[in-house]
Amino acid sequence: MRAGILGLIFCLLHPLAAAAEDRLVRIYAPDVLVETGLMQYILPRFSLKTQVRVELVGPEEAPDLSFGPQGRALFQGAGATWHVQTHGAAHPGTERFMAWLSSEVGRNTVLSFAPEGETIFAPPEAVEREVVSAAPSGNVALGLAASQQKCARCHVVERGRGVSGIGSTPSFFVLRSLPDWQDRFGAFYALNPHPAFTQIEGVTAPFPEDRPSPIHPVSLSLAEVEAVLSYVSGLEPADLGAPLQHQ
Ligand code: HEC
Repeated sequence: MRAGILGLIFCLLHPLAAAAEDRLVRIYAPDVLVETGLMQYILPRFSLKTQVRVELVGPEEAPDLSFGPQGRALFQGAGATWHVQTHGAAHPGTERFMAWLSSEVGRNTVLSFAPEGETIFAPPEAVEREVVSAAPSGNVALGLAASQQKCARCHVVERGRGVSGIGSTPSFFVLRSLPDWQDRFGAFYALNPHPAFTQIEGVTAPFPEDRPSPIHPVSLSLAEVEAVLSYVSGLEPADLGAPLQHQ
């Protein structure tokens, strides 16, 4: 996924090339869940609806997304409360799958699954919110504004703006679902591809004279970096279980 700056420039010049992501979304579900038949029931329905192709893999095959005890609580049945979690650099399809599962259509599909005339799954007992350790200080509104002005060129930063951003660049929602999202957002300017075009006032050194920013540079104050963190910290709870705004 670390496309590097050449790949990035390629993406900027060829948004359509970047949007096509042919790889299947790899999903892992423990045997006890698979044996209910739920996956065979929901996955084709999801793929039909979204054109995102999926495959079930073993836990050692680097799944993009897994069902288990951790992540977002979705439903209970077959002896457990089932959560879903994404892994690694996100596949654009994983966000679609997460969103679909949390949407009314997705939830109803799971809850209506009744292989022998009886439903198996119910809504989770209590929606377990992810505990954000010490919510960062700063200003959410400033964070949203900074994200819109300085990040939305490449990232999807808010709901209902699905068409902006570059297809292969992870959305803020996907990044927010990673366990170390705070580290990533706190230091994004040091993580590729950003150093080549990002300046943080009083933090980063000026671009080397022989390597000026290849695109219009992105410049933020430290207060804005903090504010983006505050904004992003609110994204996941706001989306929990909410019906999809757009399909
Ligand atoms: C010119 C395009 C571009 C802009 C503008 C941009 N990003 Fe990114 N960003 C990317 C790409 C491409 C990746 C994926 C890199 C990868 O997968 O290795 C990324 C990844 C990230 C990551 C994850 C990094 C990691 O290695 O885990 C964070 C966090 C992030 N961006 C935050 C931001 C924030 C905050 C802004 C705005 C202040 C921003 N980005 C602006 C292109 C951009």
